[in-house]
Amino acid sequence: MKQRIEELLQEIQELKAQKLQDIEEYRIKLLGKKGSITKLFEDFREVLPEQKRELGQKLNTLKNLASSKLEELKEKVGESILQNGPKSDFTKPGDKFDLGTRHPISVTREEIISIFSKFGYAVAEGPEIEDDWHVFGALNFPPEHPARDMQDTFFISQSDNPVLLRTHTSSVQVRAMERMPLPIRIVCPGRVFRNEAISARAHCIFHQVEGLYIDKNVSFADLKQAVLLFAKEMFGEQTKIRMRPSYFPFTEPSAEVDVSCNICGGKGCNICKGTGWLEIMGCGMVDPNVLEASGIDPKVYSGFAFGMGVERIAMLKWQVKDLRLYFENDVRFLREFETVI
Ligand code: PHE
Repeated sequence: MKQRIEELLQEIQELKAQKLQDIEEYRIKLLGKKGSITKLFEDFREVLPEQKRELGQKLNTLKNLASSKLEELKEKVGESILQNGPKSDFTKPGDKFDLGTRHPISVTREEIISIFSKFGYAVAEGPEIEDDWHVFGALNFPPEHPARDMQDTFFISQSDNPVLLRTHTSSVQVRAMERMPLPIRIVCPGRVFRNEAISARAHCIFHQVEGLYIDKNVSFADLKQAVLLFAKEMFGEQTKIRMRPSYFPFTEPSAEVDVSCNICGGKGCNICKGTGWLEIMGCGMVDPNVLEASGIDPKVYSGFAFGMGVERIAMLKWQVKDLRLYFENDVRFLREFETVI
C-alpha cells in the first residue's frame, strides 16, 4: 500500500489539464466512488494495527494533495479561459443600435389599403405565379392582345394554359369573383412582373393595388366617387380628379385617372410637365364578359375595378424621379424617409 500511495502522489503532482472536463475526469478517477484513493481507504480497513498510524497519515496527505491539486488546476483553466476568450469591458458604453425604418413602398401600400379599408374594402391576396386564364383569359383578353406578347410577360411554361408571372393583380380579382359571395368589395395588393427594360420610369418588378366592387346597381358615378375620395385622402383635400377615356379589355367603359398636381396646385410645373395633372390609375366598369367568365350574372350585377402602381403613387407623393431608387435599397436613399414616415 505504501508503494501505491507513493505512485499516486507522484502521479497527482504531474497532472495537467486544458479544460474543466479533464479535471472532472481526474476527480472521478481519484476520488469518485470507484476512484483509486477511495479504493485505498477501503483497503485501509484491513491494514495491521501497528501500521495504521503511518499509513493513515500518508493516506490523508494523499487525499488532501489530490483535492488541492484539482482546485489549483481549476483555477488555471479558469484564468486561461478569461485570458484567451472574448474580452469584455462592461463599463464601456454599448454599441449604437441602428433601427431600420419601413420601406417607402410598404408605407405607401399600407396607406392606400388603409384608405380603402375605411370605405369598407377587404384585402385579398393571390399567387404571383399564375396561369394564363386568371391573368388574361378570364379578363377578356383576345388571343392576339399585345399584353399577352412574350415581350411583356414572363412565361414559366407553355401549354394550353401557360404558367406565368402575373402582370397585374387583376388575377386576384378573378379568383375572388370565382369564390367570394356577392357583393364583393376588395383591394388586391401585390408584386407584379413585366418583361420591360429597367429605366427611371419602368421596372420588371413593381407593386400594385387593384380594387374591385361588385354589387347590384353599381354605376360609373360610384366609381368616380370612390376614386375622388381616395385621391383627396391620399394627396390632400384640395385635390381634383379628371378621367380620360381609355381602353382595357376587362372594363367598359374604361378611363385613366389624373389628379391635380400636388406640387404646383395645377398651374403647371416640371413634375406635371406643365399640364397641371398627374396620371395615377386605370379604372372602368367591369366588362359583362368578365363577370360571365367567373359565373356572375351581368344582368343582375355590375361593378367597377381600378388599379394603380404603388411606386408611381410613392413617386408622386415624395417627388422621387427615378423608380430604380426604390429597388436598390441604398440606405442613403432609405434614410431620407426616416423623418417623413
Ligand atoms: N390591370 C390594369 C393594369 O395592370 C389596371 C386596371 C385595373 C385598369 C382595373 C382598369 C381596371 O394596368
